[in-house]
Amino acid sequence: MTYILAIDQGTTSSRAILFDKDMQVASVAQQEFPQHFPASGWVEHDPDDLWSTTLKTCREALTTAGVTARDVAAIGITNQRETTLVWDRHTGEPVHNAIVWQDRRTSEFCQNLKALGHEPDVSARTGLLLDPYFSGTKLRWILDNVEGARQRAEAGDLLFGTVDCFLMWKLTGGKVHATDATNASRTLLYDIHRGQWSPEMCALLDVPLKMLPQVHDCAAEFGTVTQDMLGAEIPILGVAGDQQAATIGQACFTPGMMKSTYGTGCFALLNTGGTAVASSNRLLTTVAYQLDGKTTYALEGAIFVAGAVVQWLRDGLGIIEHARDTMCLALEADPEQELILVPAFTGLGAPYWSPDSRGAVFGLSRNSGPAELARAALESVGFQTRDLVEAMQADMGRMGETVLRVDGGMTASDWTMQFVSDILAAPVDRPKVLESTATGAAWLAGMKAGLYPDMDGFAATWSQEKRFEPSMPDELRESRYAAWKRAVAATLTV
Ligand code: G3P
Repeated sequence: MTYILAIDQGTTSSRAILFDKDMQVASVAQQEFPQHFPASGWVEHDPDDLWSTTLKTCREALTTAGVTARDVAAIGITNQRETTLVWDRHTGEPVHNAIVWQDRRTSEFCQNLKALGHEPDVSARTGLLLDPYFSGTKLRWILDNVEGARQRAEAGDLLFGTVDCFLMWKLTGGKVHATDATNASRTLLYDIHRGQWSPEMCALLDVPLKMLPQVHDCAAEFGTVTQDMLGAEIPILGVAGDQQAATIGQACFTPGMMKSTYGTGCFALLNTGGTAVASSNRLLTTVAYQLDGKTTYALEGAIFVAGAVVQWLRDGLGIIEHARDTMCLALEADPEQELILVPAFTGLGAPYWSPDSRGAVFGLSRNSGPAELARAALESVGFQTRDLVEAMQADMGRMGETVLRVDGGMTASDWTMQFVSDILAAPVDRPKVLESTATGAAWLAGMKAGLYPDMDGFAATWSQEKRFEPSMPDELRESRYAAWKRAVAATLTV
């Protein structure tokens, strides 16, 4: 038994990545699934799609590598966070589509709770803010809007779970209703200081406590995948939300270390050790990981649109054919033009938290064309990263030299990573292994199985493929960033 199977159930696709005993990728299977937009600002996934693509990719990853389930020592699960599912404890039948983290349908409800003055107390307990992003208000919406759901939940017939929890329930044939501390910390129902579900938050959001799963460490004996799934029983020994798994995969184990993942959105996490730092700058306080009962916290900045801006250039504007064309187009841009694109397509996340803002372009002239828009789109990723890093620095005081470890699809673009480094005035490290999220999940499971090294041994395996050093003159950097801040301010007030 010398392999570890990592499941990475993300927002647009499910992936299964098989790692060998040396933590090298042996095979990868990936499958996209449909996104459902039933109303403006609403985003849903069909739970059957989440499940069937997960199972199919797991089987495919094994077949491709010529490995049987008997060779797999353990499974690690990582997942899109906050996405909310409710299902029947007896039949396993979901009562509604999964409501995705991007969904804004509870915006008004969150505003009302804020107006009633609840936010300080919510933040103090959960580390989060009153924004529709998190699971709690989505769960409440299901209970209020699906006929009979509230009564069934109160009778103990319905279960709530984030995607990890739902997949574990399915993989174990309905035997396990559990999650880990990182996923729990994104629900708005979990007290991150006491390390348990919060009866106060359940009361505020009108959620029966009995629907909630058991919360474990990230490396724990979660349960066993039944034989009919993959051909042999396999223990599930690791679980973490995808951004936390990437933090682990990037070996950000020391306070002050920071990673930023550029996928659909961008999520930057700064390890703050055993201290849950309360943000004064609209960042989130979250569980980075919990091992052997010990919680390590992080400050998190979440941006909703990073790679999605490139998708928009391709699918919305049709000015590129492939995502990889963006960089070539950006290089053709007129250096005299200073277009600023604020990609607030689904509102703005940290540190602005403005769910109702929408995107805008500033500085257009008769000469502006696709090349200038492409450059502005890539630069928006750098400007937003600086917003997060500035907020982190303001919360932490002096941080010493900041080095950002990056991963995710967009990091393939040297141009974008150089701009991130330039605008941050800080080095940016791109690791050799770009599968940070899956590696994090695999390491949790493999370490628990005794196959992989301990934390120090694992951290020693991390190595950088390329370091980007800042080279933009200070004056230019500050004038570009000031233009971005003006553009955001104008967007917020429209
Ligand atoms: O908080 C949302 C995040 O976990 C989604 O990540 O990679 O599926 O876009 P991703």
